[in-house]
Amino acid sequence: MNAGYLVLVGALLAGPAASADAVQQMLNEYRQQGVTTMSAQAGRELWERKFPKPGSGQLRSCTICHGDRPENPGKHARTGKLIEPMAASVNSKRFSDPRKIRKWFKRNCKWTLGRECSAQEQADILVFLSS
Ligand code: HEC
Repeated sequence: MNAGYLVLVGALLAGPAASADAVQQMLNEYRQQGVTTMSAQAGRELWERKFPKPGSGQLRSCTICHGDRPENPGKHARTGKLIEPMAASVNSKRFSDPRKIRKWFKRNCKWTLGRECSAQEQADILVFLSS
């Protein structure tokens, strides 16, 4: 048995399997809320779209904290703290806990869009980031 084999088995047992469960659970919730189609392309567009914050002249987007590419780390727009990559393809810790996913969607959509994201919007973004 060589080291490469062990790494592969480890990855199959730990990372992707765990997070895939949480993603599937969330996608099922969105389906129950009436979402029928999900689009990584629509998710990408929303992720990159700039939303004016009324009265401030400020533009906000998911990328101002999470960075231009989800495969790369981001930097918190206010605190400057490093944020690990959002893409599940490079960060197996992503999207492993439905409570964490719900909490941050709520907080970050309110901050960025000035409102909560719909089930459709969350589904598209989750498909984009976990594909
Ligand atoms: C003001 C900075 C900021 C903005 C803007 C922001 N986020 Fe985040 N986001 C964070 C931080 C901080 C975390 C938690 C730290 C971490 O998970 O690395 C986080 C975590 C998340 C998570 C949880 C990921 C997981 O592992 O479960 C999701 C989902 C998320 N953000 C979605 C979004 C979406 C969608 C937008 C745009 C509508 C957005 N974020 C905009 C700062 C931001």
